[in-house]
Amino acid sequence: MVDFKLYLDEQRQVVEQALHQYMLPEEGEFAGHVEAMRYSLFAGGKRVRPILCLAAGRCVSEDPGIDALLLPAACALECIHTYSLIHDDLPAMDNDELRRGQATCHTRFGEAEAILAGDGLLTYGFDLLSNPELPGPAAETRLLLIATLARAAGSLGMVGGQYLDIDSEEKEVPFELLKTIHRSKTGALITAAVSMGAIGGGAEQKQLRALTGYGNAVGLAFQIVDDLLDVTASTEQLGKTAGSDAEHGKATYPALFGVDKTRSLAKDAVDRALASIESFDNRAEPLRALAKYIFSRSR
Ligand code: IPE
Ligand code: IPE
Ligand code: MG
Ligand code: MG
Ligand code: MG
Repeated sequence: MVDFKLYLDEQRQVVEQALHQYMLPEEGEFAGHVEAMRYSLFAGGKRVRPILCLAAGRCVSEDPGIDALLLPAACALECIHTYSLIHDDLPAMDNDELRRGQATCHTRFGEAEAILAGDGLLTYGFDLLSNPELPGPAAETRLLLIATLARAAGSLGMVGGQYLDIDSEEKEVPFELLKTIHRSKTGALITAAVSMGAIGGGAEQKQLRALTGYGNAVGLAFQIVDDLLDVTASTEQLGKTAGSDAEHGKATYPALFGVDKTRSLAKDAVDRALASIESFDNRAEPLRALAKYIFSRSR
């Protein structure tokens, strides 16, 4: 990758612009509700999931219009991710007051409004993905995208992982369970982002298998590094409260293995991701660079 920083900045701008284009406007009788959704959505997330989705699409498709075709799906991923953060921060869950460098949604708007903002973003994600008036692949492929996202976001994916995360607080957690928590609460949606890009881009079965393997590995790496940063980075750097995991007795890699071993396990996961897409040509360079970025990121 010639200039990864430039690529990342450009991709973030593409996603940001699409989110502004596709997000509900703050007007009419529901303006107050939409304001809370937009408050969290436009607070400056890294946009990793939409960027992975677009990169996977470009990796398998020659179509110069592939980005435009995938952008509603990419925005759907970011809506659902943002909902998961709003609910994750609620007093009944991680009880955090800072997110994306600003007060959490419930701190700013109250708990009921934050719950509804999350509900709204979750549902709007599927609205974007299924709306026949928006760009997207043909109906049959689109149905596959909807099914992929629903499965990843739901009880056998992100929601189930959040359940296990909460249920495991202040407990001694075996490694197998810790992996399951991380793969489901965070890995599932990241894997879906990659798979959806591949499916929307018309991947062959073999390509889809390889890219899904990549998604599984970077998804796990992403949460291992999130755990690591909670221990090693500052609140200012993260835009969310550092040390929150230890305070809540969370099941994390550093709690089980310490910082050094955790770093090497994250590196192993990234290496597995790279190995999964070894057979791809240089169109997979952005995915390779993204895997390394996920390991070395500082927030
Ligand atoms: C944070 O996700 C929560 C996890 C699933 C680890 P991100 O680190 O992608 O958060 P934003 O979107 O950049 O704020
Ligand atoms: C979050 O895990 C996973 C989801 C939001 C689904 P964390 O609870 O570790 O995320 P942060 O650290 O609050 O962003
Ligand atoms: Mg949590
Ligand atoms: Mg949290
Ligand atoms: Mg965390």
